[in-house]
Formats: sequence, C-alpha cells, structure tokens
Amino acid sequence: MPDPASELFGQFEPTLRFEKPLESNEAGWYIIAEQSVPSTLAAFWQTAMQWTTEPQHVIPPIEKAEILEESDQKVRRLLIPRRKAKDAPLEEVVEYCRAAEGCPTDRVIYRPNEKVGNLPFYYPKVEAYSLVYIPDADSNESGLLRLELASNESVSDTKMQYALKTVLHKLFKWCIQARIGYKKKAHHDVLVDKDTYTQTYQRLKAKYASELIRNWSEKTDPKKFVFEDIAIASYLICLWEESRPTFVDLGCGNGLLTYLLTSEGYEGYGVDIADRKIWVELKGDRANLLRVEALRPSSTVYPEADWLIGNHADELVPWIPIIAAKSQSNFMVIPCCLYGLDGTKKLVLKPTAGEGKYEAYTSYVKSIATQCGFEPEQDHLRIPSTKNITIVGRNRKDTPVDLSALEAAGASFVPRLSDREKEEQRRRKIRKLT
Ligand SMILES: C[S@@+](CC[C@H](N)C(=O)[O-])C[C@H]1O[C@@H](n2cnc3c(N)ncnc32)[C@H](O)[C@@H]1O
Repeated sequence: MPDPASELFGQFEPTLRFEKPLESNEAGWYIIAEQSVPSTLAAFWQTAMQWTTEPQHVIPPIEKAEILEESDQKVRRLLIPRRKAKDAPLEEVVEYCRAAEGCPTDRVIYRPNEKVGNLPFYYPKVEAYSLVYIPDADSNESGLLRLELASNESVSDTKMQYALKTVLHKLFKWCIQARIGYKKKAHHDVLVDKDTYTQTYQRLKAKYASELIRNWSEKTDPKKFVFEDIAIASYLICLWEESRPTFVDLGCGNGLLTYLLTSEGYEGYGVDIADRKIWVELKGDRANLLRVEALRPSSTVYPEADWLIGNHADELVPWIPIIAAKSQSNFMVIPCCLYGLDGTKKLVLKPTAGEGKYEAYTSYVKSIATQCGFEPEQDHLRIPSTKNITIVGRNRKDTPVDLSALEAAGASFVPRLSDREKEEQRRRKIRKLT
C-alpha cells in the first residue's frame, strides 16, 4: 500500500528569498522562505508545539530542549547542543501568537536570549525568527507556511540557507503528518541528517561496492554484507560529523565495517574470536587491522578508543555499554539475537503492549546503558536486516555509577568456541572413540 503521506510530501517546492527577503504583512518581519501546505491551522499548531519540545528532530546539532517555563502564550526553553565541548546551551523564548486571540497572524516567534554575534553556528543570525501560517482564503484545509526573520538582511551563507530550507521542509512534513494523523512505523534518521547520510552512502557505494563484491572470498552473500556495512559506515561517519574519533569494532566478523571506516581515514581496528578468509585481502599490509581475540567482557577495556562498535555482535552487545563506561568511551550497538549478560539466550523479556521481542531486547540493552550512566539514544538504520535498531551512547552523566550488579549478572559469561575450535573438539572425540 502506498504511504498516504508520500504524495503530499512530494509537493514541497518552496519559494526561497535568501538574497532578497520580502517585507511581510506584519511590520518588522521579512519572508525568507514559503511553501503552501495541505494542512489545517490545527495541524500547524500541533506542529509548532512538537517543535518546541523536539527541536532535535528539526535541527540536528541540537540534542534536546529543556523546558524551563511554560504557559499558553510563552515557553522558555534551553537548547542543549550535541557537541557540548564546542557549543554552549542557548536559552530561547518561544511566543505563540494566535489570530483567534487577536494577533495579526498565527505566528510562533523564536527569540534567543543571546546577542546575535554570540549565537551558535546552527542558529540564524537574527534577533528573532518566526514560523507563520496563513490559511487559504477559500479553504480551511490548506494554507501558506512561512519562515520569517526579524531582519531584512540577505542570508548569504549557503550552509544556513540549506539549514533554513531543511527546517521548512521538516515542518511542512510534520504539518501533513499532523493533518492525516500519520504515525510512522519506524523513526529513521533521528540522530543524523537524512540528506547528508544519503550523500555519504552514495559516495561510499560508488567507491567500494563493486570491487568488494567482485573480490569476495567468503562463502556468504557479498551483497548482503557489502551494502549493509556501507550503510552502517555511512551512518557512523554522519554521526561523528567533523570529528575523527578512534574506534574498536567488537565481534567484527568479516571485518568489512572496520575496513570501510579505516579506508575513510578513521583510526581503529576490529576484534573477533575467529579470523576469516577475507581478512587477508582486507588487511593488506595493515597486520593489526583485524585481530583474533576471545573477549572476556568483564575484564576488557579500551581506554584508547573514542567509540566502541557492536554490529550484530551477539553476546557482546549487552556488555558493550559496560565496557564503554569503564573505558570512558562512547558506543554504538546494533542488537541482534537476544543474548543476556551471561552470554546465553535465556533472557526473560517482558515486552510492553505493542512491543515485539526485538524492541523489548533493545529496551533491555538501553536499560543496561542507563545503569552505566549513559543517556542512550535510538535510531532505525536503513539496512537490509530487520534487526535495524541502533542504540547510541555518547552522553554520560557525571555522577559515579556502580557496575557491580551488572557484572555479577554476567559473572558466568564464557566466550564461545570458534568454529575451528568446535571442529577440533569434535575430531578429538572421534579419535577417543576409535
Ligand atoms: C553475528 S556475528 C556479526 C559479525 C559482524 N559484526 C557483522 O555484522 O557481520 C557476531 C560475531 O561476534 C563474535 N564474537 C562473539 N563472542 C565473542 C567474543 N567473546 N570475543 C570476540 N568475538 C566474539 C563472533 O565470532 C561473530 O563473528
């Protein structure tokens, strides 16, 4: 069944006035971008309220908003940035002006409590900007959505132009979703910018896919792994933005993800219980790129790694937040089979209403991350596998945490035997019997 929203989403063709903002019908405001929207006034207000509490879904450099004060007409919120070391939190007043209550137009005004020169890079360099809805004269089912600035100066920075257009696009979509009561099944691209992700994926695909598929020396289907790992590498590159973190890929399997990330200039390596035939080609002259090691998670730390990755890393997945906490690292895991901390699949999960087993398992992994002091975030990856939820831990509370209960729960963990070891065991048994 076609997605009912897709057709409406396709109507996005905004008029952009970055070079020459047009004077609005309200004094002091200048139109920078506008788009007709097949949505009601009610949908506009629902969208505006959502933007107040969830700006991170519209402006990627923001991690979240903390609401400091709230009334029907005004909200004071603190925008918390993702890159805490680089950007400061920004206090902002959001004013709701409703035509029904005597305002000239339905308008939401965003006013930062900061001088223009000190505004963060992602914020328009103005004293205020606003989102406006003007109902169509002949229908109350549609209207005009506008972004207006409290300045008539042109916006010449192309990155800011792109950001403003993206904001309008996102709000346009939300208005449509609010109108048709649309609920997305999976929330993709929550932590990365969708367009940047798509561009990165296309670039990596063009650069690596055909050669990797041609030279695949494993018995597995190259297409499944190549496109999946290109997608995961693209996602991580977008998540890391301009930073160049170091990483360790735990349970790296065929090593493809490690190969892609290091080929893109990120420093790191992969670890797995068993080596793979393809490692020889992927390593080339980098002997330490992929390493054989049976990890005992309770005694494993990687203080040198900025990020620990666990892509479908089976029994290592629930341990990775713990290893990351002890290593002072961030982590990204894509849970798969339902392993507990003891390395078995005997975990008893209690899915909440509407939750499947896989979602319940991801909740379990998130709860471990929370106990480790992380504020875990979640996203859905665009990969062929149905196990496509990723949990990211990149923010940790400063308060000390006690990991002893988690470690005790996993005290009986024993690393599995590699296929080679299992085969040797089998042969030994046969020899004994004959
Ligand atoms: C399902 S595979 C995933 C491999 C790879 N990340 C991928 O997505 O293609 C899980 C991997 O975790 C590895 N693994 C499981 N327990 C491990 C341990 N204790 N130490 C090292 N590797 C382990 C397994 O050998 C296996 O290669």
